[in-house]
Amino acid sequence: MKENITIIGFMGTGKTTIGKQLAKRLMKNFIDLDELIENQTGKPISMIFKDGENEFRQLEREKIKSIEKKKNCVISCGGGIILNKENMEILQEISEVILLEASKETIFKHIISDGKEKRPLLNKEDPLNEIEKILRFRKPLYDEFASFRIIIDNKSINEIINEIIKLLG
Ligand code: S3P
Repeated sequence: MKENITIIGFMGTGKTTIGKQLAKRLMKNFIDLDELIENQTGKPISMIFKDGENEFRQLEREKIKSIEKKKNCVISCGGGIILNKENMEILQEISEVILLEASKETIFKHIISDGKEKRPLLNKEDPLNEIEKILRFRKPLYDEFASFRIIIDNKSINEIINEIIKLLG
């Protein structure tokens, strides 16, 4: 079992919340890739997206390369990390990759309660329809890169964390 853990999954599946608490429980360091990008640029993700999605994806690739040597970490990624195969090859090499899965209804609920303006890709008139569309395209990629999967619908944070710890053995 590798000592780093990476959390992937669609927007609104709780990657940051779960990652942070999982790191605490396992006494590992916590890394949030979106937060690293925001700190480096001094801009929120929604602003970076104003320069185009490519700009953001480039920063995402740079950040993955910069954490390649990290040890004893839980790494939470942005939902689109799986769009780049090279990102995922690095993460698979250095960590166990855990996928958080949720129904589109759960995702919708979380996105709306966070405020959809925080998620530029879903800041549309009909976010549920957008979730469906993006999810359909990405599902095979999430499946391809995950070593473990956890369904989060109707589960508490503690239940999810216990499940992850059990899965990792
Ligand atoms: C994205 C997800 C976001 C953030 C950016 C793009 C995506 O992170 O990286 O808005 O493409 O799914 P969260 O999954 O933490 O919302």
